[in-house]
Amino acid sequence: MVKAGLITGASSGIGKELARIHASRGNNVVLVARRVEALNELATELKEKYSVEAHVFAADLGNIDEVERLISSIKSTGIFINYLFNNAGFGGWGKFADRSAADDHQMIAVNVQALTALTHGFLPEMIEKNEGKILHTASTAGFIPGPLQATYFATKAFVVSLTKATNYELRNTAVSVTALCPGPVKTEFEFAAGMGNAKMFEKGADAYSTALKGYKAMMKGKTIIISDLGFHILINYLSPFIPKIFILKVVEKIQTK
Ligand SMILES: NC(=O)c1ccc[n+]([C@@H]2O[C@H](COP(=O)([O-])OP(=O)(O)OC[C@H]3O[C@@H](n4cnc5c(N)ncnc54)[C@H](OP(=O)(O)O)[C@@H]3O)[C@@H](O)[C@H]2O)c1
Repeated sequence: MVKAGLITGASSGIGKELARIHASRGNNVVLVARRVEALNELATELKEKYSVEAHVFAADLGNIDEVERLISSIKSTGIFINYLFNNAGFGGWGKFADRSAADDHQMIAVNVQALTALTHGFLPEMIEKNEGKILHTASTAGFIPGPLQATYFATKAFVVSLTKATNYELRNTAVSVTALCPGPVKTEFEFAAGMGNAKMFEKGADAYSTALKGYKAMMKGKTIIISDLGFHILINYLSPFIPKIFILKVVEKIQTK
């Protein structure tokens, strides 16, 4: 049986590095995003460098029909998706009331709905075969409310919560679910979110080291990995002692352009 890791958002940033890391360990990959040329280029690179199978599926994950079609197309190939990297996602800057409802709905469709649908699509077979690992790319945004990116932070809170509950449900199996929670990372994210000059990205981490931390945590079956040490200390140890209003003020300030 042919096995492969499915990576969404493989055309850029963290997803591209996750695909490279997974393929470098001898695993076949299924690459998903909208930009098909970028996926084809990556597929050629991975096939040449690592002699693995690299399949490309172009899909707009903001469209649930395309997500369902993607799941059926992959299933019809007979490939067993034993690793699922739900990484595609984007943010959107601005006060909630000033943002368009359509833009927020698209964000929820990609960050929440597609991630949930893909997990439903591939988790049952992992459980049936008692083999598989899922890595959701969440964010440190999943632990706090985010003025000036209210909907984005809320989508990532969903992912963190879903991960904690599902990984617990799976505790007696060989299948695990992990959430990678980065702080700011230098990718195309800041531009897609309309916050190209926000101060927080000036000292952002690089995509490769962020992806590698997530990958290693997934292999160990950890529930949560906060890839940035400063945020790890802040969220796990200091935040219970910081007044909630202060956190809101700081988050708003660091996201101000
Ligand atoms: N960079 C950060 O500071 C940061 C911090 C915390 C968490 N994250 C999370 O990390 C993940 C990856 O982001 P990144 O930083 O690597 O940003 P990125 O470079 O902008 O990559 C985003 C990826 O998502 C894909 N994508 C976006 N909308 C899509 C859609 N409608 N359909 C299919 N694919 C779509 C993009 O592919 P196409 O455009 O080709 O479709 C791209 O491959 C996201 O979930 C993001 O929320 C990022």
